[in-house]
Amino acid sequence: MSDADIKKRLKYLIQEIRSADALYYQDDNPALSDAEYDALRTELRELEAAHPHLMSKDSPTQSVGAKPSGKFGKIAHTVAMLSLDNAFTDDDVVEFVARVRRFLNLPDDAPMAFTAEPKIDGLSAALRYVNGQLVSGATRGDGKVGEDVTANLRTVDNIPKTLTGSGWPDVLEVRGEVYIDHADFDTMNEAQLAAGKDAYKNPRNAAAGSLRQIDPNVTASRPLKFFAYTWGEVSADISDTQMGAVERFSDWGFATNAEMKCHATPAQMIAHYHEIEAKRAALGYDIDGVVYKVNDLELQARLGFVSRAPRWAIAHKFPAEKAITTLEAIDVQVGRTGALTPVARLTPITVGGVVVSNATLHNEDEINRLKVRVGDSVEIQRAGDVIPQVLRVVGDTSGRTSDYHLPHECPVCGAEAVRDVDEKTGRVDVVRRYTNGLSCPAQAIESLKHFVSRRALDIDGLGAKQIELFYEKAWIKEPADIFTLNFDAIAQLEGFGETSATNLREAINARREIDFDRFLYALGIRHIGQGNASLIAKHYLTWHKFEAAMESAKIGTDAYAELMSIDGVGPGQVDALLGFFGSENNRAIVVRLLMQITVKDAEVPASNSPITGKTVVFTGKLERFSRDEAKARAQSLGAKVSGSVSAKTDILVAGPGAGSKLKKATELGVKTLTEDEWLQLIG
Ligand code: IVH
Repeated sequence: MSDADIKKRLKYLIQEIRSADALYYQDDNPALSDAEYDALRTELRELEAAHPHLMSKDSPTQSVGAKPSGKFGKIAHTVAMLSLDNAFTDDDVVEFVARVRRFLNLPDDAPMAFTAEPKIDGLSAALRYVNGQLVSGATRGDGKVGEDVTANLRTVDNIPKTLTGSGWPDVLEVRGEVYIDHADFDTMNEAQLAAGKDAYKNPRNAAAGSLRQIDPNVTASRPLKFFAYTWGEVSADISDTQMGAVERFSDWGFATNAEMKCHATPAQMIAHYHEIEAKRAALGYDIDGVVYKVNDLELQARLGFVSRAPRWAIAHKFPAEKAITTLEAIDVQVGRTGALTPVARLTPITVGGVVVSNATLHNEDEINRLKVRVGDSVEIQRAGDVIPQVLRVVGDTSGRTSDYHLPHECPVCGAEAVRDVDEKTGRVDVVRRYTNGLSCPAQAIESLKHFVSRRALDIDGLGAKQIELFYEKAWIKEPADIFTLNFDAIAQLEGFGETSATNLREAINARREIDFDRFLYALGIRHIGQGNASLIAKHYLTWHKFEAAMESAKIGTDAYAELMSIDGVGPGQVDALLGFFGSENNRAIVVRLLMQITVKDAEVPASNSPITGKTVVFTGKLERFSRDEAKARAQSLGAKVSGSVSAKTDILVAGPGAGSKLKKATELGVKTLTEDEWLQLIG
């Protein structure tokens, strides 16, 4: 090859690698397989090594440090970025308003206003301004820590770099949604197709891919927009009301949504929802519901949050999209807790922009209720992230009988599967499950998938597909094996290559320190969801203390009573925890895992209140607050709230009508306060 030919080849390789790098973050438009990408880099490296005088200074081989794996820096959210609870029916909305009133102990006739505004289908971002200047911008991430996408957000035209108007606090964090509107989306996709690239699936994916570009110039070329609708840290109050705050955002230069209105009754809120629903197609951007928020910010503060969502807001979702297709088969899936679920295999059909080929049939009773058979035409629905479900058989089933039974043995390992009988009610559980535990491959794989899932260990590049592959190769049989994988062997696998093996190793190493609540949730114990895991972590604070409690918590012991006393942890959870830790096999799995990773201590909540670390019990009728608000307030000040009095109780707050708990507290010498004394204590 002549020098000219080599130069041409080098230029070609560099261009290909650059464009693959640029597409690296567009999750939905992968340009090359890892193996193809590695082949390009290897050829470039070898060619440069053989002809160093032709090497260009800005070759990608010279900027290894800038390679994607670190992606973006992290930004910790000083105020957590939360999600929203959902309402699906008008009744859910009426119940939401009633729940808010109950929590605040407000009489039915006390006035109470709610804002209603479209729920934008984009991705949320937080913008931090100091003295009116945009200083940083982050994605939501897991709600606690997001990615630093400042340079990219700066390129969004309608995000002010300097605030306009006046009166903003020195520190102001404005939050809202980054999105792409329909007209821009169409233009963008035409350009993609013209360049021989795949079209984006929907505006949301296109917006997410565009915001997470390594090169801000690429983001700048994308038609991103921003709506401001809430805030995080502020150094001074910005308003007394939600509506007022959003009006100020508008004065300071932000785009806010013109469809936002304030209402006094659930009927008005619901009417507004239907108005927005009717306008949906004409709005010009994707929305997937209407968000209602308590307008009074003082009331919002009193309402506070439950685990991941505020009590003062709810998303009223638009109805699920439906479609009709054919049921081709009913398969049986084994879940991580041993539950057998019948799964409908369908003739693939597009529902709301997504191809659906599987749907859940829930359990055997549901199949018999639907009287559904293979070959039937069925109506299915898909709502947001929820697994699609089969709604009904299209056609007359009145003459049919149906007596479908799930297999009584696990289809994978052959263990017996039974329907539990509730000891108290005598009712037979709708779910058939079996208890062979992790020695069944199906259950083991599902547990491993859960272990690495987004809300658990959240390991980038280690999803369901990779778990199945590594399990099949016997490289991962239990969680600890994830941390001793052989990455050289992985690099040799088809579809992997060195780059993704290295990225995977880094992603796994990044999880060697893990929050207590995430770790407990990741173990996949039945009935232990994120909410419970977080309550348990806040109670025991260290994994060590929790584990010790699990070892000694036999019925009748103090450790058992303590576990039961954690507010929000009931007999179902306690049984499941003791069942899990009662198994020698499970304990050994945890021990091996703890040789690989460190569980971080949970944070002690608010440190300097007079009730921090104290155990409080409420009893009798409270007059100033609802019981729920009193509990939530105590917890936010760092107290543990328990449902029963024991030697560990520090304070009993007793309202009128207090009975046995008051008696027991007096016997044990526990400090007892009236509601007024309690209010004085907590200020
Ligand atoms: S308020 C504390 N308002 O929906 C509550 N969220 O499902 C903060 N979203 O993560 C959110 N439109 O990304 C709010 N008008 C709106 C919204 C909205 C879209 C998104 C947001 C949030 C998600 C929760």
